[in-house]
Amino acid sequence: MKPLLHFVQQPRNMKDGSAAALGPLVLVNRQHPLQSGFSLSLTPPDNSFPHLQMETQAARMLAACLQTVGAQGQIVPVSGWRSHKEQQSIWDDTLAQEGEDFTRNYVAYPGCSEHETGLAIDLAQADETIDFIRPELPYDGICGDFRRAAPRYGFVERYQAHKTAITGIAAEPWHFRYVGAPHAQYMEDHDLCLEEYIALLADHPLTWHLETGRRVTVCRVTDLDFLPPTDGPRQISGDNLGGFVVTDWEVTP
Ligand code: DAL
Ligand code: ZN
Repeated sequence: MKPLLHFVQQPRNMKDGSAAALGPLVLVNRQHPLQSGFSLSLTPPDNSFPHLQMETQAARMLAACLQTVGAQGQIVPVSGWRSHKEQQSIWDDTLAQEGEDFTRNYVAYPGCSEHETGLAIDLAQADETIDFIRPELPYDGICGDFRRAAPRYGFVERYQAHKTAITGIAAEPWHFRYVGAPHAQYMEDHDLCLEEYIALLADHPLTWHLETGRRVTVCRVTDLDFLPPTDGPRQISGDNLGGFVVTDWEVTP
């Protein structure tokens, strides 16, 4: 097993109110629309598809994951970052072509899509024809290899069949969401969707040991002024609920 890769961000200017809506742990769904007025750094995860972009850190981690499992060219990106306008067109077109039930199941309401954050990616097994709304990404073969590796690179399968009542979206085996490696691994190990993970953190902090043996502590706070200082790497992400998820890695000797 290769060691886990961490791209640890330093806190941005967290006094800026928009910071609570920024970062890999933002929860975006029908109940929690994305706040507007933030800027994104976008990069293509696959240079064969230069117009398809993701938030830069997420793009790097996806590229690394695909490379590690040898999936370049066999697993292709179908939809990454979408502007609000694009999400609106997808919603309108799907509604006209497929009706309301299908649309509500498979397309997030404009302003409430993770694709607008740049942190989500739809992936497909390479094929001559690919369904844009419901691409095929099997659970076996190279796609299975990708699925097993994804949490180590910070990605979770965001919309699983048994979480539909919580997420409000039908099973989407093709939609992966970047949350960061320790969080993705914890969510995978404890069968938590993002709504459940953020709710758990709001209840109490979590501490566990990563595969490497290094301890990580994660807590949710609403006021950064009361955070204890740390000597180790720290990541602060907004949660889009008015709070921040703070991740502290223990200092390694
Ligand atoms: N297909 C997902 C739910 C989206 O439109 O964001
Ligand atoms: Zn998607």
